Amino acid sequence: MKEPKLPRARGPLSAGVISALTFGEPAPRVGSADPLGDDLQLALYLCYELHYRGFAGVSGEREWDPELLRMRGELEGLFLAALKGETAGGDDVIAVLEELLVEPIDARGVSHHLRDDGELWQVREYIVHRSIYHLKEADPHAWAIPRLQGKAKASLVAVEFDEFGGGRAERMHAQLFADLMDELGLDSSYGAYLEVAPAEMLAVVNMMSMFGLHRSLRGALVGHFAAAEITTAPSARRMAQGLTRLGVDPLFFTEHIEADAVHEQVLRRDVIGDLLHREPGLAADVVFGVQATDWLEGRFGELVLGRWQSGRSSLLVPVSDLR
Ligand SMILES: [Fe+2]
Ligand SMILES: [Fe+2]
Repeated sequence: MKEPKLPRARGPLSAGVISALTFGEPAPRVGSADPLGDDLQLALYLCYELHYRGFAGVSGEREWDPELLRMRGELEGLFLAALKGETAGGDDVIAVLEELLVEPIDARGVSHHLRDDGELWQVREYIVHRSIYHLKEADPHAWAIPRLQGKAKASLVAVEFDEFGGGRAERMHAQLFADLMDELGLDSSYGAYLEVAPAEMLAVVNMMSMFGLHRSLRGALVGHFAAAEITTAPSARRMAQGLTRLGVDPLFFTEHIEADAVHEQVLRRDVIGDLLHREPGLAADVVFGVQATDWLEGRFGELVLGRWQSGRSSLLVPVSDLR
């Protein structure tokens, strides 16, 4: 298996992690840093990636390097505080999920744009951004399994079973996404576009990894998972329409229209319902997971649409310049 290459640094923190991984130098102290900026988000992403597939030339043992874990904890503290600061909080899980179900009639997100008048280069950019997550689709959520019990566990595993192709490797959602990248002439190898993904995209994936890797954040992970499933079905429908309009096979998205309508129900009723029945004190964490997802996705969408509206690439380097 080809492991991804380490990307270029984006500041002192990410440079420090790369030196630690490459030369065994001590991981730097974090101090104060922009918790949502490129440097911190890349540094955190690199730390988390050690728990997924790692990097070429970096020993698998570094996953449990105490110095890197210490640094990761400092980065997480800043990121988590920023997310708490940007979200309203509360403990009304039903209300916060209902809000997500109501789509404003005049909503204008990335998927609306790609459905109606997006161009092929914009579809390619969007797929490059999303590859940071979808090539490991559903992996961060699998970490929740040992932290749940009973019906919540069984139901979350049922959703994960679908995400992982129901036992068929060629139907794994990550594989369907890789197939879409191939059709678009993009590099579908894992981690190929880490170099060009902005902080706004890395933060979405870092949030999932943080929620997944901390048992104390299991409520937030489940809230995040539900929020993602609720918002995916309508946006997948728009994406499928956009791809069809542009003559691209929409299978990855059509697969998500029906599946996620079901997943949403299972997450809401069986996973969250049962978890809160067992552990009612987790309601505020579930709400936080929903709100953090909504806020980070909104921030990512604004970046992409804003750049496109001014005729610019939404990536750190435009896709056409990559090869
Ligand atoms: Fe999926
Ligand atoms: Fe799903």
